[in-house]
Amino acid sequence: MAEEKQNRIVETSASNDDSSLDLCLRPKVLDEYIGQTEIKQNLNIFLGAAKKRGEPIEHVLLYGPPGLGKTTLAYIIAKEMGVSIKITTGPAIERSGDLAAILTNLQPGDILFIDEIHRLNRIVEEVLYPAMEDYVLDIVIGKGPSARTVRLNLPKFTLIGATTKISKLSSPLRDRFGNTINIGFYSNDELQQIVERSAKILNIAIDPQSASEIAKRSRKTPRIANRLLKRVRDYAEIKNNGILNLEAVKNALTMLSIDELGLDSVDQKILLAIIEKFGGGPVGLNTLAAATAEELEAIEDVYEPFLLQEGFIDRTNRGRIATDRAFKHFNKPAPTQNNKLL
Ligand code: ADE
Repeated sequence: MAEEKQNRIVETSASNDDSSLDLCLRPKVLDEYIGQTEIKQNLNIFLGAAKKRGEPIEHVLLYGPPGLGKTTLAYIIAKEMGVSIKITTGPAIERSGDLAAILTNLQPGDILFIDEIHRLNRIVEEVLYPAMEDYVLDIVIGKGPSARTVRLNLPKFTLIGATTKISKLSSPLRDRFGNTINIGFYSNDELQQIVERSAKILNIAIDPQSASEIAKRSRKTPRIANRLLKRVRDYAEIKNNGILNLEAVKNALTMLSIDELGLDSVDQKILLAIIEKFGGGPVGLNTLAAATAEELEAIEDVYEPFLLQEGFIDRTNRGRIATDRAFKHFNKPAPTQNNKLL
C-alpha cells in the first residue's frame, strides 16, 4: 500500500520526490500566490493591521483537502510578518514535555506551525490551551501528593494549525483560533496560471493549451499540477524530442492512467465499485474501503472531497451514491430510482 501510494501521480500528500520541487515553486509572498482571492484579501488586512499595531497576529487555523497550499500560506504569513516559523506536526508531539520544549524555545512574535493538528493527543492539547490563550505553560513537577504545578511565562507567539479534518478538532481547540481559513479547490484557470508560473521557474517552454490540459487533469490541486508538469517534461524529453506540446501532455497523462477529467485509477476504482458492486449506492465508507482495498482515511481525505466537488458522488445519510455524471462518465446506464430514493 505504502509503495502504491508513493507511485501514485495524483497522491496529494507531499512526497520526498517533491520536497526540492515544492521549495523552489512555492510562492514566497502573498502577491505571488495564485488563486484564493478572498483569503488573500482578508490576510492582507489581517496582517497589515497587526503590523501597524506592532503585535503578533492572532492564532490561525487553516483547513481543507491536502495539496492546496496550507503550509505555503503559513510560510507566507511568517515572511509577510518578518518573523521566524517553526514547523512540526500533531503526531510528532507525543508528550507535553515535547510541546513545552518547542514553546519555550520560541522568540517573541515567532510562528509555530502544527500540521495535522487534529492528531494532537488530549494531554498535549490541554497544555496548549493556556499557552494559546494566556502565553503561559503549566508544568506539573513530581508525582503523587507532592506534585505541584509551576507556571512559566511564554513569549507572545502565533500558532498556525493546519488540518484536513476540521470535524476531528475538539471545539475548545477550535475556539482558541482567532482566524479560521478554509482553503478550497482551485479553478482550472488558476491552475493553468500556476502551471505556467512553475514552468517559467523550471525553465520549461510550455504553450497555453498544454498548460491548460495539465491544469484540467490536476484534481483542482496545485501540488498535483506541479507534479504532472514534471512528469510531462520527462515524457517530452524522452519520447517527444524535448518538445512539450498538447500531444505530449495527452500521451504522458494517458500513460499515467489519468483520464480527461483528472480521475486517476483509484478514483475510477471507487466510482466503478459504487456503480457496479453496489448498484450506484448508497454504500457506507467502511464497505467502500473494503471493496476497493483502499484505506478509509484516504478515501475520506483525498478522494471523496474531489469526487464530491466535481459532482461524481453525493453523500447521503445512508452512505455514498454515484451521480448521473459518474454513470455517464463510464457509459453506464443510470438506475432510474437511484436518486429518487433520497
Ligand atoms: N504553487 C503551489 N501553489 C501555488 C499557488 N497557490 N500560487 C502559486 N504557485 C503555487
